[in-house]
Amino acid sequence: MARVLIADKLESSGVELLQAAGIEVDNRPGLKGDELKAAIQAADAVICRSQPKLSAEYFDNPGKMRAVARAGVGVDNIDVAAATRKGVVVMNTPGGNTVSAAEHTIALLLALSRRIPAADATMKAGGWDRNKFVGTEVAGKVLGVVGLGRIGREVARRAKGLDMKVIALDQFVTAAKVAELGYESAASLDELLPRVDYLTLHVPGGAETKSMVGARELGLMKKTARVLNVARGGIIDEKALADALAAGTIAGAGVDVFSVEPIAADNPLAKAPNIVITPHLGASTLEAQENVAVEAAQLIKDFLLSGQ
Ligand code: MLT
Repeated sequence: MARVLIADKLESSGVELLQAAGIEVDNRPGLKGDELKAAIQAADAVICRSQPKLSAEYFDNPGKMRAVARAGVGVDNIDVAAATRKGVVVMNTPGGNTVSAAEHTIALLLALSRRIPAADATMKAGGWDRNKFVGTEVAGKVLGVVGLGRIGREVARRAKGLDMKVIALDQFVTAAKVAELGYESAASLDELLPRVDYLTLHVPGGAETKSMVGARELGLMKKTARVLNVARGGIIDEKALADALAAGTIAGAGVDVFSVEPIAADNPLAKAPNIVITPHLGASTLEAQENVAVEAAQLIKDFLLSGQ
């Protein structure tokens, strides 16, 4: 009987799908170190979200394990090269949380523009200050979307529904395709940044995109501009952003992801002014978690039962 380790909290529908297919499920989220290693070696496949950091040491001696499915998009918590060297296949579920991540981006955009978290905190402390919380409309404003993949496209579509003007930048999408989608395209970040009122990033994390928006790039933006990151921590340089917010050279930021998660106590964004922060909630909806659990379980079921 094939055995699957569930190494993270997974919606029960995913577990049930595997069990219905006659697969034994070892449902033990939160395992670490040697316990996690032993559980991996005893399983034919593993399903996880972003919690376990499956570094190279977990693939040195993978035992029976032949596949890992990430219930989510980013596989940055898995050493894919080390897994591949040992013949372990790494899969992800790219579509399941697209809408949730896009909606969270729009939620941060509006929360930031109308200063909702700060107004809420003031009221809960007994205040009633209508002058302090004058916001800005998003209609008519320019949203720069960097990365026109699944999530970037859904954000752009929703922004159009809010009457925003979208300018997109994506090296893999032609200007003709961007125009067909109804947006203007920019040829480079340097061309895009001075034009936007809001900037949202939807590119993968990793060495290639680390600090793609740093002090120089923030300096190219209008003082009234706001930036959003619901993609991966560190794509916007955290210190540079905190400095720009403190200096007032950037008007605001909405950030869901951090270079170290859970956020480090000394992360400068934690105490920066005019920022709305959330603890990596982009995919945290009932619907997204259900989607990714079922998709990941289905991938593993197909993989194991096809006899690969
Ligand atoms: C993803 O990569 O799917 C999202 O960032 C959500 C998550 O990490 O669970």
